[in-house]
Amino acid sequence: TAFPIRNICCIGAGYVGGPTMAVIADRCPQIQVNVVDLNEARIAAWNDLDLSKLPVYEPGLDAVVDRARGRNLTFSTQVDAAIAAADMVFISVNTPTKTKGLGAGQASDLRWVEACARQVAQSAQGHTIVVEKSTLPVRTAEVVRSILEAAQRQAVDGELPISFSVLSNPEFLAEGTAIRDLESPDRVLIGGENPVAIQSLAEIYGHWVPVEKILLTNLWSSELSKLTANAFLAQRISSINSVAALCEHTGADVREVARAIGSDSRIGSKFLEAGPGFGGSCFQKDILNLVYLCRHFGLPDVADYWENVVALNTWQQHRISRLVVQKLFGTVTGKRLALLGFAFKADTNDTREAPAIRIAHDLLEEGAQLAIYDPKVDPQQIAFDLQLAASSPPDVQAGPTRAALSGEGTWWSGTSVADTVAGADAALILTEWHEFRQLDWVALAPLMRQPAWVFDARAVVDPEAVKSSGLMLWRVGDGAV
Ligand code: NAD
Ligand code: UGA
Repeated sequence: TAFPIRNICCIGAGYVGGPTMAVIADRCPQIQVNVVDLNEARIAAWNDLDLSKLPVYEPGLDAVVDRARGRNLTFSTQVDAAIAAADMVFISVNTPTKTKGLGAGQASDLRWVEACARQVAQSAQGHTIVVEKSTLPVRTAEVVRSILEAAQRQAVDGELPISFSVLSNPEFLAEGTAIRDLESPDRVLIGGENPVAIQSLAEIYGHWVPVEKILLTNLWSSELSKLTANAFLAQRISSINSVAALCEHTGADVREVARAIGSDSRIGSKFLEAGPGFGGSCFQKDILNLVYLCRHFGLPDVADYWENVVALNTWQQHRISRLVVQKLFGTVTGKRLALLGFAFKADTNDTREAPAIRIAHDLLEEGAQLAIYDPKVDPQQIAFDLQLAASSPPDVQAGPTRAALSGEGTWWSGTSVADTVAGADAALILTEWHEFRQLDWVALAPLMRQPAWVFDARAVVDPEAVKSSGLMLWRVGDGAV
């Protein structure tokens, strides 16, 4: 048996809350889904009639929103009203790394989650199932539950009794493939104690997810599985990036090594692409959270083990900027460098923890003049991430100016690949956008200042095409180029 769920509220209209609720509303037209957020601009963008203005760029999201919005999917800032109307409330707010206080730099900042729990405690009516969708430290459900329990009450003066159940339902979608991941997930994980509440949530997913893919666990296993999944995924990237560096010194090619090891079914072929290190809002944050928990529970060796996954990632990013400087005769001061790609991966406009940020910072520090082009990232976002306003593009025909040689790093936004590489000594490919796989290097090479380099940190170019254009090439993990 399950509680009938007719009305869902989701607190947090971000990269997870927006797409996840759009898919639930699309697949369950009988359920009213209200997504709420404190951020008025974000809600306005979710309501924009022009679907290209949605605040999250995900392939296929526009079509899903278009089908459900206005029918059984709403976006608003009316948090209390949406909670009061809901049978089930998803908490899908941000849980970034704490920047100060106890656990700064590692522990998750739970202030937004706690605020949600208190708001639910205050506004909920009748029985409400509260679902942790955000990624949380293991045992957070205990905190959420104690806040909610303090608000439980028996029926008084004809009003309904107020009660709660807490479930953990972490999200495993990856950005860029969010809709595909939500529509056909590898698994849905539900952790909880109340079998009726668990069944209610399982039935919602059951509208489109096969029952054998819906895994049920206790609360703590569910919370911990999310952190562990991200730690394992990130560990594979650090492992392959460590091997990539060794390949570059030994004539091996990391793609051949990845294919050779990935053919072992125990290892598997996915998530073995060497690159500029992992970015995104979660891998680093979630591993550091795991590290913090391990230290808290008196397991310093386990903490050190996972912390090294992050250390190797940081090293890989600095290694690439160092290598660019070395190849360009040891100095990039006053030199124009083209950065192709700024998002942390292809098919998203998200730049949180993007490798491009750290690499651009290093090169700006060296006094480089960066032309940056990304097909989906707003130049204002780049300025925010680099904490540096854009300059106007220099005259490509003229050589480096005295100002450029003064050592002050600057950047400007390119509008196409051709205009970004014009006059540059090197092009760095930092995001694997599809359009970068098909560039005509023979046409681009004459626009650059010779001798010029292509630094392909995503291994997306055809090495022969680059070499035949006369450009020099470095490809991540390729000791054979
Ligand atoms: P986000 O920052 O894009 O969105 C969070 C939203 O919550 C923001 O719009 C913010 O304004 C809103 N918010 C915060 N406190 C609020 C409150 N008290 N009331 C109403 N709104 C509030 O974050 P995200 O990327 O969607 O991530 C959310 C959670 O999901 C995090 O815990 C993250 O670790 C996890 N997660 C993210 C991804 C991903 O791909 N981004 C994937 C899986 C899990
Ligand atoms: C990741 C996980 O894949 C999701 O399952 C999880 O839900 C999510 O984190 C989360 O908790 O936020 P995401 O960060 O969106 O998803 O994207 P990924 O595809 O995992 O890529 C992360 C980073 O690793 C990117 O910078 C990507 O370029 C890099 N990467 C990925 C590699 O360098 N090599 C690979 O083989 C795979």
